[in-house]
Amino acid sequence: MRPWFILSIFLIVAFTSSAADWGRTGHRATGEIAQEYLTKKAKRAIEALLDGKSLALVSTYADEIKSDAAYKEYAPWHYVNFPFNSSYDTHPKSEKGDLYMAILKCVEILKDAKTTKDQKAFHLKLLVHFIGDLHQPLHVGIADDRGGNQFQVRWFGEGTNLHSVWDEKIIDSYEMSYSELAENTKHLSKVEIKQIRSGTVMDWMNESRKLCIQIYDTTTVGEDLGYGYMYQYTTVVRQQLQKGGIRLSVLLNDIFG
Ligand code: ADE
Ligand code: ZN
Ligand code: ZN
Repeated sequence: MRPWFILSIFLIVAFTSSAADWGRTGHRATGEIAQEYLTKKAKRAIEALLDGKSLALVSTYADEIKSDAAYKEYAPWHYVNFPFNSSYDTHPKSEKGDLYMAILKCVEILKDAKTTKDQKAFHLKLLVHFIGDLHQPLHVGIADDRGGNQFQVRWFGEGTNLHSVWDEKIIDSYEMSYSELAENTKHLSKVEIKQIRSGTVMDWMNESRKLCIQIYDTTTVGEDLGYGYMYQYTTVVRQQLQKGGIRLSVLLNDIFG
């Protein structure tokens, strides 16, 4: 193959690939934080399943398979939508599945003694990613604007949408690596960690939904967002990454502990 041909394929893939949810940095930070909180036993079991790969490394796998038609059934598993005046329980469920159902399914397959190593490894990679998604408030969104994908705003003057701002624009503006973002968790007190670890997947989802409502209440269509917005939501973004990482370790320690 000619070098220019390979280069053009690379450029097409690089510039047309779909948005990557929390963004690679956010998902990797979640994986890295979880890794820190694993029990020895869980760490060993996970290392064996992932052939030595880290949770940070596999955290973006679920986005990487999105462009492969063979995996299209998993696309609706990245988010959950229900109207603002309803709740997950009362709103009819999507037949294709949703983020909440996906997390329970992954946990079930990982706990099942009858599933194969390949099935377990696949669903572990998905679980690492989906716990990240669960903590991106707009992934617990509304169908009307596809979780903010159709909510047009500006980011430092450039046209984008609210979903993208929350997936990656805020995080990327910090210009921090995923390990630098993960470092933040070390400053949490024992009481704070205990508080974060408590609750169920349903409680964690509802916490994201509350934030989602707050975000819609404080953002206007067409608004030019920048430093003010970053400042307003820095703590929320940091906390969501910390919570995602710590809670992922809670599930994994329960599954493998
Ligand atoms: N597509 C439709 N709704 C979505 C959401 N809440 N998050 C991400 N992608 C979506
Ligand atoms: Zn997203
Ligand atoms: Zn995702």
